[in-house]
Amino acid sequence: MKTVLLSLAIGGAAFAQVKAGDTDNGKRLFERNGCYQCHGHVGQGGTAGARLAQTRLPLIAFTAFVRNPPSGGMPPFRAKVMTDQELADVYAYVKSFPEPKPAKDIPLLNQ
Ligand code: HEC
Repeated sequence: MKTVLLSLAIGGAAFAQVKAGDTDNGKRLFERNGCYQCHGHVGQGGTAGARLAQTRLPLIAFTAFVRNPPSGGMPPFRAKVMTDQELADVYAYVKSFPEPKPAKDIPLLNQ
C-alpha cells in the first residue's frame, strides 16, 4: 500500500499533461500489451485477472496500480513500457465497456 501511495504522490505532478483518453488507441494498447490475456477482451475478468470494466478506480490510482501491482499477481508496466498518456487511453477504453445487465433484466434468472 505504501508503494501505491508513494507513486500516487510522484505521479501527481506529471498527470497535469495527460489529455483525455483516446478509446481507440486504448483498445489497441489493451490488446497489444496483453492486458486482455488476464483481464479478458472486454475487461470482464477471468481466472487470471480482476474485473476491469466499470472500474471504480480514478485514473491516477489505475495508473499507480499498473505501475506497481501490489500483490505480484500482475506484472508491472513501467513508464518506459506504457506512458501515462497510453494508460489514460487504456483507462478510457476500459471505462467505455457497457454496464452488465442487472440480474432482474435477465429472464433466465427470474424464473
Ligand atoms: C499476467 C496477468 C495480468 C496481465 C497481463 C495484466 N494484469 Fe492487471 N491484474 C492481474 C491480477 C491478477 C490482478 C488482481 C490484483 C493483483 O493480484 O495484483 C490485476 C489487477 C489489475 C487492476 C486493479 C483492478 C482493481 O480494481 O483492483 C488494474 C487497474 C489492472 N490490473 C490493469 C491492467 C492493465 C491496464 C494491463 C495491461 C497493460 C494489465 N492489467 C495486465 C493480472 C494481470
